[in-house]
Amino acid sequence: MFDEARTRKMPVKRPIYLDFQATTPLDERVYAAMTPWFGAGFEAGFGNPHSTTHRFGWEAAAAIDEARKAVAQVIAADPRAVFFTSGATESNNLAIKGVMEAMLSVKPELIVPVTEHKCVLESALAMERRGAHVKWLPVGRDGLIDLDQLADLITDRTALVSVMAVNNEIGVIQPLAEIGALCHRKGVYFHCDAAQAFGKIPLDIKAMNIDLLSISGHKIYGPKGVGAIFMRRSRPRVRFVPQMSGGGQEEGVRSGTLSPALCVGLGEASRVAAQQMDEDRRHVRRLSQRFFEGLRQAHPGILINGDLEKRYEGNLNLSFPGIDGDRLLSGLRDLAVSSGAACASATSGPSYVLRAIGRSRAESLSSIRFGFGRTTSIDEVDFACETINHVIDELGGLKSGDRNQ
Ligand SMILES: Cc1ncc(COP(=O)(O)O)c(C=O)c1O
Repeated sequence: MFDEARTRKMPVKRPIYLDFQATTPLDERVYAAMTPWFGAGFEAGFGNPHSTTHRFGWEAAAAIDEARKAVAQVIAADPRAVFFTSGATESNNLAIKGVMEAMLSVKPELIVPVTEHKCVLESALAMERRGAHVKWLPVGRDGLIDLDQLADLITDRTALVSVMAVNNEIGVIQPLAEIGALCHRKGVYFHCDAAQAFGKIPLDIKAMNIDLLSISGHKIYGPKGVGAIFMRRSRPRVRFVPQMSGGGQEEGVRSGTLSPALCVGLGEASRVAAQQMDEDRRHVRRLSQRFFEGLRQAHPGILINGDLEKRYEGNLNLSFPGIDGDRLLSGLRDLAVSSGAACASATSGPSYVLRAIGRSRAESLSSIRFGFGRTTSIDEVDFACETINHVIDELGGLKSGDRNQ
């Protein structure tokens, strides 16, 4: 299959973007939907969606309501339980701090896997400083949590379990339905950081018993600076203290004037993502398989990080044993890739996620995350593959054996 690469038709534009977990380019349909809302002057939609006394406000509010419905539909939620925020960082802060502040005096415990995104870890630590008791849940070598271990950690003093859907560094998909069923049985709220999952894999808040869910716009070809939080309003109603004081917009969940352009953008990105989720997933699966086969044929010692099956295929995190990650990255200037999460890539320590799944310090430092997306082409993947194989050879090849996981 990889031989097709030799018959590449078009020269590829460089650098090739393979960092779709960090962010995604705006989809043209999203841009088109947003433009009426960010022009200049009175011709553009500029109304304050919270103005209830005139047409300018009503029109903006109506557009936002449509967007809310589109977001809600992706997770099979009631639109009235979806609230716009500035992104998944804010939604995660809101979920963890909001719930824990409300529950602190009755149920001070919070359970968080060690491989969560920094904004979840830091929010948990912030609540620990305010008296919460954080229980850190380890993950296996496959990056997945163990349900029995989770069950053992839950007590009648546990308020919240927060587990991400798809890991941003290694792409593994946690067993959401099983976690939700367990939390539901034990009367514990389940928050899911779905920044890397929303619009990419099927999510159903009812079937998965999810009480709170965080969404980001810019991971699904939508605009940056907008996201959403789903918060269950009944059976059970999530007890929660708002974290932003203000005019009580978004039913008091999140004060502040909403941006119609950004909300409409997130709505359209959600609609498109839902419509072509299967197609998008087939595309990235095909690309990542082709990419990995091309690398492994030449260099069988390359390791995949995280479970081989339970994963979102658009994220392939690989370790190159014996190769210095910085030297590898500097040889890959034609590829826009990342050695880990965008928020942590300025710090050059080994990734805490890779360390948590048992990779050595050296293996962690020799790892790169390759992200494929809706716009990635086979030609780009083949070019990336050839480039990497070439750079590995230049650096003297891989050093250790053929261990796969
Ligand atoms: C898993 C996960 N959670 C949260 C975030 C933060 O999202 P945002 O950039 O919308 O604040 C990200 C983005 O890097 C992420 O990957």
